Amino acid sequence: MTPTPSRKTPVTAIKPRIDKPIVLVGLMGVGKSTIGRRLASRLGLPFVDSDDEIEAAAGMTVGELFENYGEDYFRDGERRVIARLMDGSTKVIATGGGAFVNEDTRALILKDAIAIWLDADIEILAERVSRRDTRPLVRDTDPKMVLGELAAKRNRFYSQAPIHVQSDEGAHEDTVDRIIEALAQ
Ligand code: S3P
Repeated sequence: MTPTPSRKTPVTAIKPRIDKPIVLVGLMGVGKSTIGRRLASRLGLPFVDSDDEIEAAAGMTVGELFENYGEDYFRDGERRVIARLMDGSTKVIATGGGAFVNEDTRALILKDAIAIWLDADIEILAERVSRRDTRPLVRDTDPKMVLGELAAKRNRFYSQAPIHVQSDEGAHEDTVDRIIEALAQ
């Protein structure tokens, strides 16, 4: 039996055209780290998570940073860490949900990277963030309400990313396929 030809864009076709970091932006729970890691592995690029980098630099978790020093301090560290990660080398960077709201960070990413807005329904995000207690903005809250408010404030920023991909349908690998298709356009 002849195998059905794949309609997927081969990675080899787009890899040479990727000459900037790929930066994933979007709300908490949308899968920036999980999808980012898989995308990086498919493209044969390094992966870095800005929250992990902030935690390593501070020697503290994001939760502890918020608790001990407050959100503004965290945001300042976030801005500096992302500026450092944007060193011109090709890689996949997953950002924390608030990073792209910062004007300087957003301008830098839009100028020097390929920004991808990963998006999903609020119900799905709320369900995903409820599984872990590591995110200070939704801890002890109604996550659906908080995420709805954050979406209302932030979607106008996320929508400035030139690529917009839904991450709520199918398996993670399907989302990675959609990103690769979008990069090929
Ligand atoms: C935040 C999102 C978190 C983390 C911090 C603040 C936000 O990252 O940076 O808790 O403001 O949306 P994730 O989007 O990876 O959960």
